Amino acid sequence: MKTEKLYPVCKNYIWGGDKLVKEYGKTADLPCAESWEFSFHPDGLSKLSDGRTLSETATPDDLGSNCAGFAGVPLMVKLIDANADLSVQVHPTDAYAGARGLGFGKTEMWYVVGAVPGACLYVGLREPADPARIRASALDGTLVSLLNRVEVHTGDAYLIPAGTVHAIGAGCVICEIQQNSNITYRLYDHGRIGPDGKPRQLHLDDALAVADTGAYRAKRPSAQTADGVLLFANKYFTASRLTVSGTYTFTADKGSFRCVTCVCGAGVIDGTGCRAGDSFFIPADGLTHTYEGDMTLIVSANRKYAVGIDLGGTFIKGGIADDLGNVIAKGKVPTGSEDGADAVAARIAGLCADLLSDACMTADDVAGVGIGVPGMIDTVRGEVVYSNNLGWSHFPIKNEVQRLTGLPVRICNDANVAALGEAKFGAGAGMENVVMLTLGTGVGGGLILNGKLYEGSGGAGAELGHMAIVLNGECCTCGRRGCLEAYASATALIRDTKRAIKEHPESLMSTQSEINGTTAFRMRDKDPYAAEVVENYISYLAAGVIDIANVFRPQAVIIGGGIGAEKENLTVPLQEKLDRDMFGGKLGPAVPVIPAALGNTAGTLGAAALWF
Ligand code: BGC
Repeated sequence: MKTEKLYPVCKNYIWGGDKLVKEYGKTADLPCAESWEFSFHPDGLSKLSDGRTLSETATPDDLGSNCAGFAGVPLMVKLIDANADLSVQVHPTDAYAGARGLGFGKTEMWYVVGAVPGACLYVGLREPADPARIRASALDGTLVSLLNRVEVHTGDAYLIPAGTVHAIGAGCVICEIQQNSNITYRLYDHGRIGPDGKPRQLHLDDALAVADTGAYRAKRPSAQTADGVLLFANKYFTASRLTVSGTYTFTADKGSFRCVTCVCGAGVIDGTGCRAGDSFFIPADGLTHTYEGDMTLIVSANRKYAVGIDLGGTFIKGGIADDLGNVIAKGKVPTGSEDGADAVAARIAGLCADLLSDACMTADDVAGVGIGVPGMIDTVRGEVVYSNNLGWSHFPIKNEVQRLTGLPVRICNDANVAALGEAKFGAGAGMENVVMLTLGTGVGGGLILNGKLYEGSGGAGAELGHMAIVLNGECCTCGRRGCLEAYASATALIRDTKRAIKEHPESLMSTQSEINGTTAFRMRDKDPYAAEVVENYISYLAAGVIDIANVFRPQAVIIGGGIGAEKENLTVPLQEKLDRDMFGGKLGPAVPVIPAALGNTAGTLGAAALWF
């Protein structure tokens, strides 16, 4: 199907007002409390212009492959006009609802579309309160005083995880993105009388069984994607706010549809006029789509997430990434490998917990943890068989991190995951045969052959840094002599820089207080000794790159890692040498030498991609 304007089902609950009709273009009787803009829920299926429901029209391909992991479509989008305070309520978790045959639980989020001065939301408890206290105050009418009351303004957003005691206050217009569920347990209804003349039913036992009795702490992730500023992300829904001013074009992915709700302004969505209050369904068709005008859009989709960990000799870098390669949380901690492998595993687990908290996620929202580790990795048994860089042998890192985090873990060699990251989301996107070299503490190699990561027997292969380019040459950390790593790693470059300074005290490099992998590159225009260090470095690296090109004839050799940050300073001279010396020269298919595109996130993205 193509992009379609959605026609919602409206609900006339007693606390509703007239704004959805008068200001947001809905056709409904008053009071109009909710419009179910994007709904696959049987209690109110949203429709298309031809009268058919979206649920009967959208195919699995239109919805995208991510939805296949759920029984049905996992999210709903509503507009809500609270003319009076809503009841104080709580929604069940998946586990609670599932155990009672009620389908999904309900985690939801609110985006404030409009708020009269002084309007507020009640989100969670102000301070911890035990169930007996909550029950007593629900019964004596003082429950509201236990709640965390926040005055709100247009643009504010709150996450309401299942179990959070909450209420929408009078005067708020909300765009609510929620799990596909319609279960509410009411704790307190302000003594209100329902349309049948009786007080509306309370569900104290269920509500107290699921209520989170801790204090609520408001937090938002901080990330920007092609869909705008991220509001909240979890395994059910990802919502972002996109400000359109002029023309905005993007290519849809095949993982998820988008539901686009205009909350302010007006414009055109894929050729159809759009005003505040309108929602559109954009299929997961891989095609280009266009938004035009001046408007604020809430873009909702279903994305997959995983934690990616790049375990290096100095730092453990981590991130939470989605299936499109957007990093929504990132952080790093020192590796401290001298404290032993168990301590490093504990630091990884601590970093995972911090990342989840920064992303406002629970462990349940991510598919798992992927870890890139330098050395020989048994991906099946989850063991670091041998790591020259970390000084480990036979460390069962997968089980250890699984035990500490409670999350499933996959591991792989660090350069292999960097290659995977670049091939999926970076410089090698769309290529079937790519080789990656990471130039850091060591020299790592990653091979994507015929569209798949090639790791060799037991995951122990693709060690491109350990091919000998000089017989009986410099000592390598692996014990052999003359390896590419012993000439082209950052470690080797620093060694050679220091040697040049020692041999030529007149070198300008000797004036530097700190010598690192950038020293020679930075000073080569003014210092012939620095120029010589760089030239030798590139010549050795070229020997390795040309060997790689001759063996694999890939569509590209990607140069990454710390020294890879020199980008064209490396790739241009490498390309010249390669074109001159490669087998058959320019007679065969070209092998472009290109800089990595993802910088130092290639490792974390590739590690997360072990789950996509
Ligand atoms: C290790 C490789 C690793 C590379 C990059 C080398 O020293 O032997 O396994 O991929 O460093 O960290």
